[in-house]
Amino acid sequence: MIFRETPLERKVKKVDFECYATYFHAMRVFILSDVHVDFEENRKWVQQLSDWDFKNDILILAGDITHDFDLLRIWLLKIRRKFAELFFVPGNHDLWIRGEDWANSLEKFKAIMEFCRSNEIEVQAKVFTLGKERIRIVPVFSWYNLQEEKDTLYLPKIGEDATNRMWSDNYYVHWPEENRFDPSAYFLEYSNHWQPAESNEKIITFSHFLPRHEVMFSGEMSYDPERMRKHDRFPQFNFSRVAGSLKIDRFIRKLGATIHIYGHQHINRDKTVDGVRYLSHCLGYPEERRRGMVKGIENGPKVIMGD
Ligand SMILES: [Fe+2]
Ligand SMILES: [Fe+2]
Repeated sequence: MIFRETPLERKVKKVDFECYATYFHAMRVFILSDVHVDFEENRKWVQQLSDWDFKNDILILAGDITHDFDLLRIWLLKIRRKFAELFFVPGNHDLWIRGEDWANSLEKFKAIMEFCRSNEIEVQAKVFTLGKERIRIVPVFSWYNLQEEKDTLYLPKIGEDATNRMWSDNYYVHWPEENRFDPSAYFLEYSNHWQPAESNEKIITFSHFLPRHEVMFSGEMSYDPERMRKHDRFPQFNFSRVAGSLKIDRFIRKLGATIHIYGHQHINRDKTVDGVRYLSHCLGYPEERRRGMVKGIENGPKVIMGD
């Protein structure tokens, strides 16, 4: 008697084979940030990431999922299921209070941490072996320092509005004891109990906010107020007021990081400064992609190790 495979059996076999092939490739490390799933286009982009290709891989997700706590949880879980390991730090948008009943943004941060810990989303350092290498991935919680604060990334800009009225954090982020709370110090302290790495480890750190001035600019270009004025669609908005903190860089260098991932700016970079490779791979807003401001995101998350 001859048994013939039905089309359904053939399909099952093909899917089985694809799954095995996925499981047997070596572990890789991918990066991504600023998926902003409030936008339908962004939800589609995330949804269509393969459910199989990354099953043996790590994703470092550097913040700004959405301000909506329900959506945040739903999409973190969807992304979690696509990868073997998911690392996450919240961004400023994730801590916005907009139509939700939180005492303040710190309370919301703690709820996000609790949700991550309960759902195997990594918010603390963890060591992996990739081939012959031992790597330690370290989440760095952070906030930006304003112009008048120590460790600010602020750089003056021609025509800027000193109040930064366009910046939505001014309306949607609320700290306990508004004027006395120092978020950049608080969050770094939250990260600070991570142990420095052992000598044979490669350290990958990641934060939502920028760690130093150089990564705000492309290529070899450095700070040039006149050039910025000519190429700027929003001359009154000065991103450097809310970009990040030099504290982050001091911290990651003390740990011995050789790679640092960040998000927030929605301009993707891969830049080495003083021995540390800094990368950002943001999805950003649909409008920014249409304008060609966010580059290299067409093929999904960016692989940084194990390719
Ligand atoms: Fe963002
Ligand atoms: Fe951000």
